[in-house]
Amino acid sequence: MRRLALLCCLASAAAAETVYLNDLDLAPMRQGWGTPQLNRSIREQPLSLGGKVFDKGVGSHARSELWLQLDGQTERFQAVIGIDDNANGAGSVVYQVWADGKRIYDSGVIKTGEPAKEMDVDLRGARQVLMLINDAGDGINFDHGDYCDARFTYTGAPPKPIVGPDEEPVILTPKPGPAPRLNNVKRYGCRPGHPFLYRIPCQGDRPLRFSADGLPAGIQLDPGTGILSGTVPAKGEYRVVLHAENAAGKAERPFTIVAGDTLAPTPPMGWNDWYAHYDNVTDALMRQAADLMLSNGMADVGYAYVDIDDCWMTAEHHRDPQRQGPTRAADGTLLPNQHFPDMKALADYVHGRGLKAGLYTSPGPTTCAGFAGAWQHEAQDARTFADWGFDLLKYDWCSYGGVAGGNDLAAMQKPYRLMGELLKQQARDIQLNLCQYGMGNVWEWGAEVGGQSWRTAGDLGGELSRLFEVALHNCEHRAWNGPGAWNDPDYILVGNTGPAANPRPFGLTPNESYSFMSLWCLMASPLFYSGDMGSLDAFTLNVLCNPEVIELDQDPLGQCAAPAVLNAETFLLVKDLEDGSKAVGLFNRGEFPAEVTAPWAAIGVQGRRMVRDLWRGRELGVMEGSYTARVARHGVVLVKVAEAGP
Ligand code: GLA
Repeated sequence: MRRLALLCCLASAAAAETVYLNDLDLAPMRQGWGTPQLNRSIREQPLSLGGKVFDKGVGSHARSELWLQLDGQTERFQAVIGIDDNANGAGSVVYQVWADGKRIYDSGVIKTGEPAKEMDVDLRGARQVLMLINDAGDGINFDHGDYCDARFTYTGAPPKPIVGPDEEPVILTPKPGPAPRLNNVKRYGCRPGHPFLYRIPCQGDRPLRFSADGLPAGIQLDPGTGILSGTVPAKGEYRVVLHAENAAGKAERPFTIVAGDTLAPTPPMGWNDWYAHYDNVTDALMRQAADLMLSNGMADVGYAYVDIDDCWMTAEHHRDPQRQGPTRAADGTLLPNQHFPDMKALADYVHGRGLKAGLYTSPGPTTCAGFAGAWQHEAQDARTFADWGFDLLKYDWCSYGGVAGGNDLAAMQKPYRLMGELLKQQARDIQLNLCQYGMGNVWEWGAEVGGQSWRTAGDLGGELSRLFEVALHNCEHRAWNGPGAWNDPDYILVGNTGPAANPRPFGLTPNESYSFMSLWCLMASPLFYSGDMGSLDAFTLNVLCNPEVIELDQDPLGQCAAPAVLNAETFLLVKDLEDGSKAVGLFNRGEFPAEVTAPWAAIGVQGRRMVRDLWRGRELGVMEGSYTARVARHGVVLVKVAEAGP
């Protein structure tokens, strides 16, 4: 008793403190346009409401979401709210606060030009709180919502911004069984007469023994490693059947080699170092990634390219002297920096594991990070990349704008047309990835200038809070997506970003990670992981490596899903598959769990259908008319809807 009484006195003695919203770490705060502005409006002007200017506060924009961990220690939130006087257009917003799933504050509609409103919310007892500035039903244009003079009263720990409410990182992907499961692409493209290399992706206990029926003359299979190599002598379609066997069982799967002009009949898969290593990338880190791709199972579900991004050449200025030096040898050959002592040996190392090697440059004088580009050395560089043995080139616009000599479509296409042509002349298959952020509707002409894939937008790294919007935007170009021609909405950014010495989470919740991978696979996007391979945890690896989900991405039809039943918070993505079934993603971009329905009419099927949950690898049963699922905040339920059988 005495002890309790003492604690009581101590607690009441602790003085309530005040912290301003603008003094919290608002990195997890998300909004529909721009980034939260401290002590100024979203237009980067002084915060101003109803003619009054405020020194302190946060300028935001609908839809604005801030999750806070309070743990019952925050008592009150007070602010002056409204649409900033400098919005310069008619907007309308609603402010809401939700505490532990219940709405505890609603401002009603606030329109541009209305007097500022005092917001005063009792937060006593709340554990996790969501502060929202919502669009009031007329779209988010000019919805420049401010929190002025915004402050919390708390005792103990101050409120802590978090990425979302607690979520368990539940692994849904079933563990691979001991028996072999072949995960090879059904169609593989190559040019006849060129070196051929394909490591058959296969899960199951080792040792495995591989064999194949119908291989074209000139292609050998290593039965122990499952690596196919050699040269396909002539154009044509070779219908091969692959077999894998171990002590626990056997598997077979068709594999059609299409020797002709189409590279990448299914979206390329691999890893790119950019978001892991930036300008710290080294030969050793690339080799380590190739080793990890084999040892962590990624290669067994189809990841194959090991791509060096920017910063492997020399730069005029760099903090690391080993990245400085002469750009080119006396004969003009491009020189790697000292962290890449032997590019050919690196490519050989990757090939030795049955994987493929990619690299990066810019058509401009310098790359985006200031390293030497290919400007005026294009033919020589294309030859060098082929001599070294690389299999993919990412060609990043960067400084090219300064030398393009025009900004019409022809000028925009010119460097890519040139490199596309040069790569075709090499004696090996080199895929071309156009990186120019979608300029000039690149999806309409990327294939024609020789590309197999093209970025449809800017860098995804800064856009992760708008993942669903980025994906829906990418879907707008779905008509141009198909075998040999892939819209590229950028890398898969789940798990940790670099630098590898200090990996930090990208900041996506578990459900967002599932949504990310589901979106990319439904869109038939190139699947390049770009997080830190060295710190992959079991959850992230399972998000990356679900063979049934990847199979959607690699479906030979190559169709990008179409949005359907699109509401403010939920939507469907529907994709036709080669076998006549449909893949459907039921997405919830709202802040709370929601029921999402996929009506048969919206997905283009009728009658009784078998529904299979692809993440869990489980039949959900035969349904008629529609399928409804409860979908987590920012989450997905991904299903295949197929013939129900007799
Ligand atoms: C651009 C590209 C990125 C990356 C960097 C490297 O920003 O869009 O993907 O390649 O350059 O500097």
